This record gives sequence, C-alpha cells and structure tokens, in this order.
Amino acid sequence: MQFKRTLVTLLAVGTAALAHAQGNWPTKPITLVVPFAAGGPTDVVARTLGASMTKALGQTVIVENKLGAGGNVAAAYAAKAPADGYTFFIHHNGMATSTALYRKLSYDALKDFEYVSQAVEVPMTLLARKDFPANNFQELVTYVKANKEKINLATAGLGAVSQLCGMMFQRAIGVTLTEVPFQGTGPAMNALLGGQVDVMCDQTTQTVPQIKAGSVKLYGVTTKDRVKVLPNAPTLAEQGLKDFEVVVWHGIYAPKGTPKAVVDRMNAAVRAALRDPDVVKRMDDLGAEIVPDAKNTPEALHVLLKSEIDKWGPVIRAGGKFAD
Ligand code: MLT
Repeated sequence: MQFKRTLVTLLAVGTAALAHAQGNWPTKPITLVVPFAAGGPTDVVARTLGASMTKALGQTVIVENKLGAGGNVAAAYAAKAPADGYTFFIHHNGMATSTALYRKLSYDALKDFEYVSQAVEVPMTLLARKDFPANNFQELVTYVKANKEKINLATAGLGAVSQLCGMMFQRAIGVTLTEVPFQGTGPAMNALLGGQVDVMCDQTTQTVPQIKAGSVKLYGVTTKDRVKVLPNAPTLAEQGLKDFEVVVWHGIYAPKGTPKAVVDRMNAAVRAALRDPDVVKRMDDLGAEIVPDAKNTPEALHVLLKSEIDKWGPVIRAGGKFAD
C-alpha cells in the first residue's frame, strides 16, 4: 500500500515536472542537425530558418553538421537523440530515397521520428565546370556520350539529391560516368569551381550565385516549369529529357517521443520563420519556394514522406545502385 502511494506520488511529481519543463520550453539552445556539409544547400536553408526561429523561440537554434553516408549518419544520429525537445533534424528527399538505396539502415524514417513541418521546395540545376567544352545542353549530351570514360560527376553520395538527379541524367542519356562522392555539395561545388570535377546536379540555393557570377556553366533546371530567378535557363524536359523532374523538398523532424506540445511549438516557430520577410527574400533570391502554410503540418509531412517513399522506390530499384 505504502509502495503504491509512493509510486503514485512519484508519477505525479514526474508528470508535473515534465509539464513544467514543456511549459517553459525552450530553456536552452536547440540543435538543428544538418546531414550535409556546412555552406551547402541544406545548410543554407537550415541556417536561414534557424536564425529566424531563434527570434521566435527566444533561444539560439544551433546548426550542427553531421556528415556521412549521403545524409544517413545524421538521420541515424537524430533518430537516437534524446526526445527532450532540444534536437531537431532537417532533411530532404533523401529521407525517402535512402529507404530504397540502403539495404540496411539503423533507423526507420517512418517510425523513428515525430514530424514537425515541411519548409521549402528547391529546384536543381545541371552544371559543369566553367571551362567544360560543351556550351549548351545538346552539346553537353553529345560531348558526354563521346567522352563518358573521362568525365567525373560530383555528388554528395547515395541518398543525396545530387546523386539522384545525376543518376537520372545518366540514365536518360544512356551513359555511366565516374561518380565522385563528397560529404555535401558545398565541397563538391568547390571541386567544380577548382576544375577537379566536370559536371554536377545541385540545388539553386547554392548554385544561383555561382551561375550569376559566371563561375559555372548551366545547362538547365530540373523542374517542370522554368525558375523565376533563372528565367533564361530551359528545363531539362523542354530540351528533350521527357518527364525529367526533380524538386527538392525539405522537412523538419524530431526524435520519436518528443512531446507533442514541443513539436507544436516548433511547428509554429517554423511557420513564423517561413513568413519572416528576411527569410522570404533570401529564399526568393535563391530560387527556393516556401511551402504554403496549409501544407506545413506534421501530418502533411508524414503523408508526403510516405508518398515519396512509394514514388522513388521503383525508380531507385530500376537504377540498380545500392549501398549496405
Ligand atoms: C547538401 O546540402 O550538400 C545537398 O543537399 C546534398 C545533396 O545533394 O543532397
């Protein structure tokens, strides 16, 4: 009897402490884990949102770059982080494609996370180093087909959208190139600028400044329609790669078990950031589209992730490239 009473008291105290902790949340800095290198496109989105969310939450949002395995080192880390409301995770399509690309993953994208919100959608661009011989898309296809043995394609590894887009490009024109994996397209872009690699697919959130500065050659965008910020760039589909479409979507997650009240407040902070004029302008300048408010719910992110797993699974399996 005494034991029962003590247990009830302890539970009551524990619940009250938790409620109090959540009520005050956040009382210390929050970590936003980014699965690719600093300076790259995912990092740009995370830091832009993080700076604005810091204002909304009254606590610093610290970006932590955890590199490796095409984003999967970070995903596994985030899945196992304490569900105390102080670790969140931002990832893109790789959260869905990795389930087909990797034979073994130490986390389950559909079971090990709470879903916070979608954020932005980003077009990709097909690029080459500045002195690459091809001057337009048709020349690129001809040149790549004739010189496939000596052309390097930079990617951020299996699970990265640069690899997915690069794989689709190779398949569409019927070549196999040497893929050079980096720990993010930040370092891959440095290699492209330095002439150590030849071609790359990458998101406008990193490529627009380089394209505008004339530091790289641009052959097209991967969206169905042209991109406002690069009005002269044709889509790959309109240049002959029928139905070629890759749009990069970003979602924010928390470890499974993070209290709902915290997830809801984080969701509100993400939404506030997406309405922040500084964020809107930066995303606009970089060709990223802010996802409409109605879609920025935890439920909508869960539905999107499930549908993307169904969509990309067969594409990837047909590509026949897997990792353990
Ligand atoms: C990055 O942030 O480096 C990219 O999103 C990697 C990728 O291509 O997926």
